[in-house]
Amino acid sequence: MGFKKDFIWGGATASYQVEGAAYEDGKGLNIWDIFCKDGGHIYENQTGDAACDQYHRYKEDVQIMKEMGMKAYRFSLSWARIMPEGTVNEKGLKYYDNLINELLDNGIEPFVTLYHWDLPYALHLQGGWMNPNSPSWFYEYAKVVAEHFSDRVKNFFTINEPQCIVGLGYQTGEHAPGLKVGPSDYFRIWHNVLKAHGRAVEALREFSKQPVKISMAPCGALYVPETNKPEDIEAARKANFSLPENSIGACSWDVALCCDPVYLGQYPEDILKEFGQFFPKVTDADMKLISQPLDFYGQNIYNAVTVRAGEDGKAVRAARYDGFPQTAIGWPVTPEVLYWAPKFMQERYKKPFMITENGMASHDWVGVDGKVHDQARVDFMARYLGAYKRAAEDGVDLAGYFAWSVMDNFEWAYGYSQRFGLVYTDYNTQKRTWKDSAYFYKNIIETNGENL
Ligand code: NOJ
Repeated sequence: MGFKKDFIWGGATASYQVEGAAYEDGKGLNIWDIFCKDGGHIYENQTGDAACDQYHRYKEDVQIMKEMGMKAYRFSLSWARIMPEGTVNEKGLKYYDNLINELLDNGIEPFVTLYHWDLPYALHLQGGWMNPNSPSWFYEYAKVVAEHFSDRVKNFFTINEPQCIVGLGYQTGEHAPGLKVGPSDYFRIWHNVLKAHGRAVEALREFSKQPVKISMAPCGALYVPETNKPEDIEAARKANFSLPENSIGACSWDVALCCDPVYLGQYPEDILKEFGQFFPKVTDADMKLISQPLDFYGQNIYNAVTVRAGEDGKAVRAARYDGFPQTAIGWPVTPEVLYWAPKFMQERYKKPFMITENGMASHDWVGVDGKVHDQARVDFMARYLGAYKRAAEDGVDLAGYFAWSVMDNFEWAYGYSQRFGLVYTDYNTQKRTWKDSAYFYKNIIETNGENL
């Protein structure tokens, strides 16, 4: 037994990373428009102004996904396109109507992310996620989305990687809005973002025209055991849900800081113990709001730290051998994370598990034969998906897998220097070229992973 029959094989992107058309049809500015133009934050000062031009080429991209056999497309809506300054921009809705209808006409299920980091700049000027009203703003936006799209869209993700929003956007400043706040604001922002998630769940449940499935797409630091010894497995299990050190930087990547409130209705004890003094007032009503029942447990997963049990049973990092495989962006290749993480997450959060993003960056180019031979990505997928399949065989309830990404796109602070796509994007001509990995994925989908 491997992947179940109705397993969702998909691909993912995000609005700012692929759409382009940054100044068209009434779209408002968002924090990434401003951050990129500010200069000095992004590789070669590149911007998402044009990106993959999906705004104008969505039909071609839908055909590519159809041809690859994808059952689902996870994409995000640009809040500033839909509600540039608070009021609704009909042309923004129209674009997503067109995209959604095109997907459905081609047998591809839309999985819509409400927020993938491109906060309307108008809201940033009011304090962004620091503003206590931010959860209500998100509610209003989610309401518009539910009322307008839920006759056709049945699956929603509220927020993509809250860890990066707070950690990179407001703590290290590597991402928009590029701030470095102190500890009280840091936890205030976390609490607002989690409340915003809750408010969006409320709006989606209340205003959708049919029952919809809702989840989140968090990330976080993951840990896998070096061996199958019970003590190593136990050390790894615990490490996934506890701080490796008492620093705010470590909090940003703690899976439990984000997911315990959402799925278990409480903040993790170790964080409260160390940082409780910096928390805003947290009420029972807040926790109820944040922890409304969800339908899946989704997670974006790329790699993990390997650990073993130390003398006190606690996790210690296992040394990586010299020359350990890594991707172009420098992330380690650790396929076993797709076996262990679904298992550990399901034990704790008890929901059908879904990979909402997985993939790798490599320095691909179009070869003399006109093809893109990304052998490393083919191997990466075979290894990661093989591990994922073993999790299914061991009884983990797996609902789906979204490859990151359908096509090369704007990789945030790395600009266009990192290519994560199954399809190669030529940013001069906007020509799309299937990489070998796209053909490989097509075959995996066709056979439901039978040969992994
Ligand atoms: C996480 C993010 O959700 C996505 O936007 C990003 O491009 C990929 N991972 C790769 O870094």
